Amino acid sequence: MDIREAYLNFFASKGHEIIPSAPLVPNDATLLFTNAGMVPFKSIFTGEVPRPTPPIRTSCQTCIRAGGKHNDLDNVGYTARHHTFFEMLGNFSFGEYFKKDAIAYAWEFVTQVLKLPKDRLYVTVHESDDEAFALWEQHIAKERIYRFGDHDNFWQMGDTGPCGPCSEIFYDQGGEHFNTPEDYMGGDGDRFLEIWNLVFMQYERSSDGKLTPLPKPSIDTGMGLERVTAIMEGKFSNYDSSLFMPLIEEVAKLCGKPYAYESGASYRVISDHIRSVTFLLAQGTTFDKEGRGYVLRRILRRAIRHGYLLGIKEPFMYRLVDKVCEL
Ligand code: ALA
Repeated sequence: MDIREAYLNFFASKGHEIIPSAPLVPNDATLLFTNAGMVPFKSIFTGEVPRPTPPIRTSCQTCIRAGGKHNDLDNVGYTARHHTFFEMLGNFSFGEYFKKDAIAYAWEFVTQVLKLPKDRLYVTVHESDDEAFALWEQHIAKERIYRFGDHDNFWQMGDTGPCGPCSEIFYDQGGEHFNTPEDYMGGDGDRFLEIWNLVFMQYERSSDGKLTPLPKPSIDTGMGLERVTAIMEGKFSNYDSSLFMPLIEEVAKLCGKPYAYESGASYRVISDHIRSVTFLLAQGTTFDKEGRGYVLRRILRRAIRHGYLLGIKEPFMYRLVDKVCEL
């Protein structure tokens, strides 16, 4: 299945306009990079620009989380699911539908298009959100609905900007494969994987921390393409999926040593970082000693250091670019 196409077509069939991915460098001084699918639509959520027609959209947005509020750089390579660069599938409602439809659409897509087994699915809501809890009960047994606080179930774009309580869908990868003490719903283990975040956008946070209601309650959702691809392919790590293995195999060719998961962090770092570096350079970011260009430089340096650890001493990153483009 082409997951990007299935997602965009599903939401187009529900009346959403399909919007191409916006650049990684947003037209927004409060952010280093586009870090979520909603970023290009921020000023529509806040009411600064009028609602488009139709007021519902869907996209597959390229994102970078390496610097700023959402910064995953140091984890990359050592976990199954962190990336500097990833693609986020999303559907957005600018004051049109709200919780009820967002939840119903998400459930329909996950169970009827992706056909993920219902007995593997769990959801979370904000501890104060009885409304979302009651809406989820129409789809899933209440034992599978968890309530968590702001840390897990309140999403904001950055220190300022649109935000709101959220509801997440989790996929259980199976207790037979994961059994660390952290492998419980809400724990830090890999067994329960968050695949989709539905944000009930209701506020704008200003620099003094104050929350002001948005003109209309809105919807922003984000589903990680890399996670869903891995699940659909039956892989426990995003890096084992068809989005990354071809890059990892190229790295193995460059260093002349086969890849093994347990000792393979450097291969994973390089296969992640080449995507960020390729996209940023292609979109006009250049190396610098501060700001975005500095983050780019850090990512490139980290990849090269891991190349050294694999014994690659000559320039090599450029030799991976064609594979990134092909993928
Ligand atoms: N904007 C939300 C997120 O990034 C959907 O998780």
